Amino acid sequence: MRIVYHETTRIFHLYNHTVSYIMTIMRNGHLGQLYFGKHIQDKEDFSYLLETCERPMTSYIYENDKSFSLEHIRQEYPVFGTTDYRQPAVDVRQKNGSRISDFQYQSHKIEEGKPKLPGLPATYTESEKEALTLTILLEDPVTRVKAELLYTIFAEGGALARSVRFCNGGETPVWLGRAMSLCLDLPDHEYVWQQLSGCWARECHIHSRSLEPGIQAIGSMRGHSSHEHNPFLVLRRPTTDERQGEAIGLSLIYSGNFRIQAEVDAHNTLRVLAGIDPETFEWKLDCGEVFQTPEAVLVYTDQGLNHMSQTFQRLYQRRLARGYWRDRARPILNNNWEATYFNFTEDRLIEIASKAKECGVELFVLDDGWFGARSSDHAGLGDWKANLERLPHGIEGLADQIEELGLKFGLWFEPEMVNKDSDFYRQHPDWILSTPERMESHGRYQHVLDFSRKEVVDAIYEQMAQILRNAKISYIKWDMNRSITECYSRIWPADRQGEIYHRYILGVYDLYERLTSEFPHVLFESCASGGGRFDPGMLYYAPQGWLSDDSDAIERLKIQYGASMCYPISSMGTHVSVTPNHQVFRNTPLHTRANVAYFGTFGYELDLNKLTQEETREVAEQVAFMKKYRKLLQFGRFYRLKSPYQENEAAWMVVSEDQKTALIGWYRILNSVNGSYTRLRLEGLNPAYCYQNTKSGQCHYGDELMYAGLITSDMTAGQKPSCVKPCTDFESRIYILDAVENCC
Ligand code: DGJ
Repeated sequence: MRIVYHETTRIFHLYNHTVSYIMTIMRNGHLGQLYFGKHIQDKEDFSYLLETCERPMTSYIYENDKSFSLEHIRQEYPVFGTTDYRQPAVDVRQKNGSRISDFQYQSHKIEEGKPKLPGLPATYTESEKEALTLTILLEDPVTRVKAELLYTIFAEGGALARSVRFCNGGETPVWLGRAMSLCLDLPDHEYVWQQLSGCWARECHIHSRSLEPGIQAIGSMRGHSSHEHNPFLVLRRPTTDERQGEAIGLSLIYSGNFRIQAEVDAHNTLRVLAGIDPETFEWKLDCGEVFQTPEAVLVYTDQGLNHMSQTFQRLYQRRLARGYWRDRARPILNNNWEATYFNFTEDRLIEIASKAKECGVELFVLDDGWFGARSSDHAGLGDWKANLERLPHGIEGLADQIEELGLKFGLWFEPEMVNKDSDFYRQHPDWILSTPERMESHGRYQHVLDFSRKEVVDAIYEQMAQILRNAKISYIKWDMNRSITECYSRIWPADRQGEIYHRYILGVYDLYERLTSEFPHVLFESCASGGGRFDPGMLYYAPQGWLSDDSDAIERLKIQYGASMCYPISSMGTHVSVTPNHQVFRNTPLHTRANVAYFGTFGYELDLNKLTQEETREVAEQVAFMKKYRKLLQFGRFYRLKSPYQENEAAWMVVSEDQKTALIGWYRILNSVNGSYTRLRLEGLNPAYCYQNTKSGQCHYGDELMYAGLITSDMTAGQKPSCVKPCTDFESRIYILDAVENCC
């Protein structure tokens, strides 16, 4: 890994074995983008890659040079309004009303490692040798606003992290109307745009389309990253698939309003912008003040989508997630939400927990409804004290009882919200986000606390910390169940109201930081009505997140498959729930529910007392299986094999680091009559190793399994089944492959 600056040509080249990123200081002092892609060897001069051209109907910078128009030059951080008519990365609004700026190169520095981004989640290094960071200082000569562009290249893989830090070095305030985390200008638009979109209970579905002239975008204006669009984009070549081909992944480490867009111009070049949503953002930068953008991560591969995903998964698992639980296999839990909803007593919880313990479960999680006057979603949020009518021994007493059963205890919070029917709201009616003299919309009868105010965050912190200090709590589920409306904070002046959405998220990050620092052994799981805030920003604080409120195994195939494009398996909250399922009312076999949930953190969302004896035995076996294989499942190398978006079958697999064990999940959605012969061509095995299939007892070399394939044909439908149990719709199997010394 190196970052080289070629003095004579004024060219920067960042590279490692996988990628090269090349840019130059142009004659107007702005930065031009020359190349991002597969590693190419370094040399002094790549300036020919800066194509300029004299074109009709163009505005030019220099009177004597009709080829230098920013509209036709690929740039690193384009400004608004001076010869470039595409969307800019930055917009500086000034006291005189002007929005023109001119960020010119001043200096640069190259450091080992990677600096922290104050108050924001970001990737990090554990040793200086893991990455190099280039900081390029630009300055606008009129406003004296400085912009520092940060580029980190990691030693391993094709990932680059980028962000921008602004500082007002002038004598008058300015307002940032947009401050994107990155701009990536690419020389052509021959890409398929692939996004993860959906809505509540249908998160992270893969949607693709080819790029057309104009702007295509995803984003959120809800105050959280949203169920609708994940802050993640893939640009892949039309011929790229899971196994081969070029792709660029872009992920924004941010949990608030965002925008990711691609603009194809008239000459088919492509401008990608990513950062805080400009529509809902304006930031006043007083003299001497600093503004740091969130970080964006770019991944390049020429080895297909699985390889791109593995690069993200490894980086995010090892150098974005933090703390005690980062590398640890996750406890198998039983959450009471779908078992009881609001309708529980202490005795009933103990009953559920006792049965869970019998089946080998390790952690019992008490979900919504334990506090204040919360007997439904109309009341109680904000009053984080146990409801003693329901829980006569309080949270401490309940936690003790759960621990005595031999389980760990976990608790649900929704720290950012308040019901009007709560003591907290009655004491602080002006602590919610709402616009004076305007209607206050609610969502689920609740209102959003003004987390842009430190005293609000402090008050919630005190309540939560109090409970965590006094009771034996090992896990917290941090929920967030509504989007922001009428966004306005009562303490900030008029010209800072554009900051509130971002300040809100900074408040959320601050609360997370304080709680995770004071209680480092508590496992945090983020949640926002399922996957409404399942994003890399959250992963920095909570190493796992409840991916979706949809716990149906078949729905989960698409959701987990989509999320795996960017997120590690260890980050995905996955539970087995009852049938008929509570979201789609579908009946799926118990083994299929588990076979899908194994590829995640794994747990149960039901009352095990309600299962038959045979089912309970099966659950105990599932738990034992998960305990044996969870390290592999959660931390192994993950490959998507068959897409549930395209076929009646889906499949994926994980392979251990030493390639000695592999576990394959195969799922068939509807049963077929007199079905086809089917095979799965496996991935990531060692071609020379001999693997025993623990299901069939047969042995095969890695090369056979990868090139000839694992036979999954199932001829049981349409005739009397030869397998013990008749195979039905929603069938699934787990195959385990163990490398053996002597091939059988
Ligand atoms: C939404 C979450 O996604 C559910 O799992 C559950 O915790 C409910 N909120 C509780 O209100």
